[in-house]
Amino acid sequence: MKGYVKIFTYGCQMNDLDSRKMYSLLARDGWEATESLKKADLIILNTCSVRQKAYEKALSNIGRLRPYKRRKPSLIIAVTGCIAQQKGRDIISRMPHVDIVLGTHQLHRLCEAVDEKREENRQVVDIRFNECIPSLDIVPEKAFMTPAHRAYINIMQGCNNYCSYCIVPYVRGREISRGHAGILEEVRGHAARGVKEIFLLGQNVNSYSGGISFPELLRRIDRVEGIERIRFTTSHPKDMSDELIACFGDLEKLCNHVHLPFQSGSDQVLALMNRQYTRRTYLGLIEKLRKARPDMAFSADVIVGFPGETGDAYRQTLSLIQEVRFDTLYSFRYSVRPGTGAAAIEDDVHPEEKSRRLSELQGIQRAITLEINRSRVGTTPLVLVDGVSLRNPGQVHGRTTQNAIVNFAGSPSLISSVVMVRVTRANPNSLTGEMEAPAAGKKVLSV
Ligand code: SAH
Ligand code: SF4
Ligand code: F3S
Repeated sequence: MKGYVKIFTYGCQMNDLDSRKMYSLLARDGWEATESLKKADLIILNTCSVRQKAYEKALSNIGRLRPYKRRKPSLIIAVTGCIAQQKGRDIISRMPHVDIVLGTHQLHRLCEAVDEKREENRQVVDIRFNECIPSLDIVPEKAFMTPAHRAYINIMQGCNNYCSYCIVPYVRGREISRGHAGILEEVRGHAARGVKEIFLLGQNVNSYSGGISFPELLRRIDRVEGIERIRFTTSHPKDMSDELIACFGDLEKLCNHVHLPFQSGSDQVLALMNRQYTRRTYLGLIEKLRKARPDMAFSADVIVGFPGETGDAYRQTLSLIQEVRFDTLYSFRYSVRPGTGAAAIEDDVHPEEKSRRLSELQGIQRAITLEINRSRVGTTPLVLVDGVSLRNPGQVHGRTTQNAIVNFAGSPSLISSVVMVRVTRANPNSLTGEMEAPAAGKKVLSV
């Protein structure tokens, strides 16, 4: 045994998957995961830089590890993820208790870097960008995939879109896709060990170019026996092709939910953001998706207070929200990211006004979400059971194909099965129900 490791994860699902991959690499190399900071011999902070707040939080948490290092000088502290990529050696200059800084293309070098530090007491900084990203091919160990019936697969990394507010293209690099053969082999491997849901990840999954098109990749995964559900995130509206939209109508396993960020409802702001579509084309996509799959559920990201967002432009965002009626909306206050295009534009919406807009928008969305949830009372969706409720051990929770969370009375033995649940109550962010019967053809379990 080499020692104990604890990883802190910030940011998006890509970072979450990277952390599972890091735990897996280290486990194969003789490390054991721990939740105790005192016990840890290696602490990794897998950071996010997308908004100022995330950035500050991660930096202050790196700072807080200083006393642990003082008490145990052999402790190794590593910073990975998007801040590591953005700041490189600066992190160590500012915080000399950090030993390793690994960028977003260098995760596969983790064990090597840790050994170098241990054996030769050398600090390691590696933020080179590669032509390919070896860590895309790492399949996490089962122990680090929770719940065990859902497999996250990173099919591409990076972004070529350069939305003017966004730091992601600078910290994840240009788009690089993983070859389809490896992806399909991984999917078949998961299916063989009982995985039910495949969740494809990437900053821009629908611009995937790993030898076949993204819709073709979906079609091939749809044919893998044992897999019951397919999801993906995130998509860019400009790459939501007719062929991809058709998949939602044609592919039985592709879930009827899509996350399609729109960012603003104003054409003027969309142009300043370099989003490459208009309000009209976005609404056209929603319409086409609803035509392909009438019960489609939508979620999205939106930013308020982007430079130049007038009161009128902001109201256009509100009206788009009311028009589409998203099930879920992730809303953010604009914050300047250094080095991005928008950093050169004056951040002219007053912070208080940004907060006012954000809370008004969130209030409107809360009402829409609750109305949508209420409209589901009495329906009987199929729920893939994910786990036992934290608050009520007599209850389990799972997701519908539309990605709604449902809580209902049931035993832990239901985890990983698909059951039919009658929705009895709508909550602000979830549904409550009662189990009807195991879905046809699925394992029959007693409750
Ligand atoms: N690749 C994804 C996610 C990007 S980051 C996509 O293209 O949708 C997640 C969300 O953070 C973005 O969709 C955007 O809404 C928000 N975001 C990104 N940069 C931001 C900034 N500078 N200020 C506020 N929100 C930001
Ligand atoms: Fe950022 Fe835009 Fe790329 Fe998404 S599409 S990661 S928001 S630059
Ligand atoms: Fe954050 Fe990097 Fe993801 S900046 S949102 S962790 S791609």
